[in-house]
Amino acid sequence: MKVAILGGGGREHALYWKIKQSPLVKKVVVLGGNALMKNSIAIDGNNLEAIKNYCDTQAVDYLIVGSETLLAAGIVAYMAATKTFVFGVNARAARLESSKLFAKQFMTKYGVSTADFEPFENAPNNAPNNADNNVENDAQSNQEKAQKSIEAKQGNLVIKYDGLAGGKGVWVCDSIAESNKALDEMEARYGKKCPFLIEDKIVGQEVSLMGFCDGKTIRLLQPSVDYKPLLEDDKGANTGGMGAVCPAPFWNEALQKSFDETIAQPTLKGMAAEQIDYQGFIYFGAIIANNQVFLLEYNVRLGDPETQVLLVNLKSDLMAGIVACATGKLNEVQLDFESSYAVAVAQVSSGYPATYPTGLLIEGIPEAIQKSLVFGAGIKRVHQECQTNGGRVLYTVGQDELLERAIQKAYAAAQEIKFEGQFYRKDIGSF
Ligand code: GLY
Repeated sequence: MKVAILGGGGREHALYWKIKQSPLVKKVVVLGGNALMKNSIAIDGNNLEAIKNYCDTQAVDYLIVGSETLLAAGIVAYMAATKTFVFGVNARAARLESSKLFAKQFMTKYGVSTADFEPFENAPNNAPNNADNNVENDAQSNQEKAQKSIEAKQGNLVIKYDGLAGGKGVWVCDSIAESNKALDEMEARYGKKCPFLIEDKIVGQEVSLMGFCDGKTIRLLQPSVDYKPLLEDDKGANTGGMGAVCPAPFWNEALQKSFDETIAQPTLKGMAAEQIDYQGFIYFGAIIANNQVFLLEYNVRLGDPETQVLLVNLKSDLMAGIVACATGKLNEVQLDFESSYAVAVAQVSSGYPATYPTGLLIEGIPEAIQKSLVFGAGIKRVHQECQTNGGRVLYTVGQDELLERAIQKAYAAAQEIKFEGQFYRKDIGSF
């Protein structure tokens, strides 16, 4: 079987690394991969026509889509007439990630355990009647309603922009001043009339649960933890993820039961009732409070950097899982895991997650590879040199039966990497 993976981040590198090991796969390439992926084809990963042409002419059997953007844009329908099977959800199912309002309304309707929320369904900025006075009035009354809500909750709340925002559309606030600043920031970024929601804030330990879903069955990989803030002790700006650990050491049977009964099963019921034809990866971003699991968000893809640890610890053949999910036989699949911990540490460019330079020489990759796995992300090759080409540049991944040793291995490799202005958190793996 011939497989193509779409995307060049750390998640896609881990997918490439794992799928290359599958006995079912004869050839695997990456469309728009990074410099550390051997079989990378230089294609613009947002150019649907180029992707389709490559898959057609090269007789690709499975196209695995890494990120949500093209799924939400409808790549599944776009490729439907080709012989390539796109592993990922259709645009309708992708709304579980691409519209936070849709997702919360779905959760509430089907009894999924989640925080209470208030919708602010303003007309989108590109609505044809945007200049209409009623829309202006609606936006104003929504602002008044939002102010009331902020005051009632004393600013202790979460504000979520409705659409896809690459991790930048959520504000967790502690005060009225912070909530007002968040509203201003959101309106400056997405427009005065952007749809959004205000959610009660749940304080607890976040956990990521992800795996396969074929609409009838969910098969999870190990529970994992993602370290989102830029700085140690979870301080600083929110990022795409500065590191990850699996399995989450605090996870237990009672939490699994809570998740299965109050999140996974109602989600499947909802999908059936709404005729959401789901086939692909699923990601439940959850939080634990009072020994109960609450759903924060759905994503219709694997997490980055969680995938970099989950696939290292997955013993089973990932491609066999993908094929079973694609053919509606996920219930026949059993996933097995290594009895180890895996820890990923992200190295980022100076200035990330805001603006950062690119084109800086990266040294020490061969030395790091001697010590642990290295997955690339924002990295390009210029002549014989590896250079930075993004905010998150690469990940070192340590694996060991003991969490402490897995952490040491990831950091031993991280210390070999050198580039100007490089930064990595020193506390990945601590709880
Ligand atoms: N690690 C967070 C995400 O992939 O959305």
